[in-house]
Amino acid sequence: MSVRPDPSAAPDRTGFGIDIGGTGIKAAPVDLRTGETRGAPLTVPTPQPATPEAVAAAAAGLVDRAGWTGPVGVTLPSVVRAGITHTAANIAPSWLGVDAAHLFSRTLDDRPVRLLNDADAAGLAEARFGAAAGHDGVVLMLTFGTGIGSALLAAGVLVPNTELGHLMVDGVAAEHRASAVRRGRDQMSWPAWAAEVSRVLKEYERLLWPDLIVAGGGISAEADRWLPLLTNRTPVVAAMLENTAGIVGAAMAAGPLRPSGTGH
Ligand code: BGC
Repeated sequence: MSVRPDPSAAPDRTGFGIDIGGTGIKAAPVDLRTGETRGAPLTVPTPQPATPEAVAAAAAGLVDRAGWTGPVGVTLPSVVRAGITHTAANIAPSWLGVDAAHLFSRTLDDRPVRLLNDADAAGLAEARFGAAAGHDGVVLMLTFGTGIGSALLAAGVLVPNTELGHLMVDGVAAEHRASAVRRGRDQMSWPAWAAEVSRVLKEYERLLWPDLIVAGGGISAEADRWLPLLTNRTPVVAAMLENTAGIVGAAMAAGPLRPSGTGH
């Protein structure tokens, strides 16, 4: 007798999210009332080359392993409009202009698939369940990783595809100044890196006037070492969902109570 719980048994309360990154793909069923994943996420390395077909097949493998048969939400590090991936800054160029929602749906027996930008997913999750839960002002969520991802929310409503990592700050793209990868690559001290982050945040503040900034991405686990060094005006807090934010936001976008800003 199988003892594995059937996560599809509670379709109204459970969603399923897949978070696609440059090195790994993570997926899990999510309790949409609490924002918790049901069990540890399943993972698989991102296939190389990371063509749309290879990535969709790998993601479908995780859905299969989880025994999930319902709708899925998928994040990608790309601008996504109406299921089409429009940019490919840190992913294979073959994603440009792909009807990725259709591709994933076909690979998953034609089930409903909702696709969204990875940082937008993280922002939705933090706004509902994490560091910005209940905040009714303007929240800017930033993910510091290979690039800088951004999600802009006003009273919990997402303005999708903001792409602030590409804003030019004193002649250099924000994500080339202050991504986590830059810190590692250039072996920057925490003060030196925090100075670059501050410079970028001041530019965001000048243009958007957020009430709260949420700092996410792997480097938020070390927030104590750099948040206190920031010199910008807006309060900056560390993300709370850490490595599940993308999965949770993806599951929310595909769930029955889909948040505003994910409908196109
Ligand atoms: C991409 C964004 C993405 C961010 C974080 C940027 O380079 O343009 O779409 O959200 O990286 O992965």
